[in-house]
Amino acid sequence: MSKFYPESKVEIQGFEAEKYDTLLDVLSLGWYKRFIRSAIDRLRIREGERILDFGCGTGRNACLMRPHLGDNGYYLGVDISPIMQGQFEKNCAFFNNVYFQIQRIDQSFQLDEPFDRVFISFVLHGFPQEVRQTIIRNAYDNLKPGGLFSILDFAEFSLQDMPFYYRIPFKTVECPYAFDFIEKDWTSILAQAGFKKKEEHFWFKNYIRLLIVEKV
Ligand SMILES: C[S@@+](CC[C@H](N)C(=O)[O-])C[C@H]1O[C@@H](n2cnc3c(N)ncnc32)[C@H](O)[C@@H]1O
Repeated sequence: MSKFYPESKVEIQGFEAEKYDTLLDVLSLGWYKRFIRSAIDRLRIREGERILDFGCGTGRNACLMRPHLGDNGYYLGVDISPIMQGQFEKNCAFFNNVYFQIQRIDQSFQLDEPFDRVFISFVLHGFPQEVRQTIIRNAYDNLKPGGLFSILDFAEFSLQDMPFYYRIPFKTVECPYAFDFIEKDWTSILAQAGFKKKEEHFWFKNYIRLLIVEKV
């Protein structure tokens, strides 16, 4: 399948999609496993919430959120990849309130019922800025008033100030879209889209951030 955005590296296909979780665990030497658990704990999900996950991938995040949500919560992961769908459905087969839907987040959409939270992890950086604006609007349109939009992704930093031993792998592995993502003032961009900053948490020398904003 050809990519919608040829330079994007979040449109994961083939072997990389089939082995996505294993590759992350191996390449991060096991660090990713501990990190993602701690990031999801920081969301402080409450029992019974409705969560919409943009670009949900293999279901790893869903499996970590489900214990917080309990039996009365509801999780919907949306993604474009049938390979991710296959893994998601296998990984989440035991849960009766965790669902997957094929849905492009880069095009406007509004589901029937609004959500308490929209979550997006390591997806937003991988698009041109005008597409990111559409994704942010989709988050807004699918949230209840006061609902939370949580973005787990690269933080704001300058590539020039990054030590070369991080800069070289970052420039080699990441798509060009990520290079302008890190230089944007996301609090202001999100404020213009109708969100108020609530909290932020950092990992990995402050290069990764969980930014939580509230729909006002
Ligand atoms: C880097 S992976 C992150 C997966 C997951 N959020 C995680 O943190 O493990 C990016 C995901 O975004 C999905 N994706 C890419 N473009 C998309 C689009 N336009 N609409 C919906 N999902 C998309 C990919 O299929 C992939 O599962």
